[in-house]
Amino acid sequence: MSISRFLAAGLAALALTAPALAQQPIIIKFSHVVAADTPKGKGAEHFKKLVEERSQGKVKIEIYANSSLYKDKEEVEALQLGSVQMLAPSLAKFGPLGVKEFEVFDLPYIFDNYDELNRVCDGPVGQDLLKKLEPKGFIGLGYWDNGFKVMTANKAIRKPEDMKGLKMRIQSSKVLEAEMRALGALPQVLAFSEVYQAMQTGVVDGNENTISNVYTQKMNEVQKFLSQTDHGYIGYAVIVNKKFWDGLPADLRTMLETAMKETSAYVRGIAKKENDDALEEIRKTGRTQIIPITAEEKKAWKKAMISVHKEMESRVGKDVIQAIYKATGFDPAKF
Ligand code: LMR
Repeated sequence: MSISRFLAAGLAALALTAPALAQQPIIIKFSHVVAADTPKGKGAEHFKKLVEERSQGKVKIEIYANSSLYKDKEEVEALQLGSVQMLAPSLAKFGPLGVKEFEVFDLPYIFDNYDELNRVCDGPVGQDLLKKLEPKGFIGLGYWDNGFKVMTANKAIRKPEDMKGLKMRIQSSKVLEAEMRALGALPQVLAFSEVYQAMQTGVVDGNENTISNVYTQKMNEVQKFLSQTDHGYIGYAVIVNKKFWDGLPADLRTMLETAMKETSAYVRGIAKKENDDALEEIRKTGRTQIIPITAEEKKAWKKAMISVHKEMESRVGKDVIQAIYKATGFDPAKF
């Protein structure tokens, strides 16, 4: 081939690929560990819909639910490496990352209800915590709700004493470890995707989780009892890889931020109902006995676990604990 023909062929090929290249969408891989029909799973779908509509093909969100890409710890590493761009890990999972203050959300009974919790997330405490993620290479875009935790086991748990000697799966959090030890239980750290099998094979006796997580992971198939202790909270911080985020065109970033704000409000609107509905579904199966814990009975649970607040002060930070007490009116002396 003559040089001129060779050049002409090259130019023609370029002319074909350049527009295609220019139209390549920005891909945001969003990995998470829970089922699609949970508050977080639905939040991810909602965000995808908003972003893909508004960006008119410029941004594509690929959702990988149910630990299909990465398990708990691996997904955070993957975000740091840039293999995925977005995650919504539970707040407990930021402690092992070195942002120990997030474990304040794991303190037993520190929040009585969603209102208190949302006030803290929206206020200075929640916003300052998100900023602490930046040196780790993350940008915190917002908080997504899930709900309050129940205890499940194959033994009826009514009183704190019933927890003695039970092997209970927890997320990797020093606060959750201390909480289980305060109850005389034996905490076992396991990835979320491994819990069902661990229950089935007797590696653990039970776990603490939100009802939506229990139901959508089918834990109720292998747990005879569910106790409504409401002793703690599971929610999420949506995070992105900072390098990726900083490299986005400013107008797209603004669009993504707005979509995230709207999605956080959407998740806040569905979280309680998702958990209430999951409870009714579990009830309907008739296989798991639901044990309500009355406000009066909760007093004994609070009493058994309140020591964890003081015990974890040096890890989580006295300031952040006090700031939450102040925001919610929590008084540890009452227990
Ligand atoms: C768990 O590991 O139990 C939960 O944090 C999973 C989740 O993301 O809700």
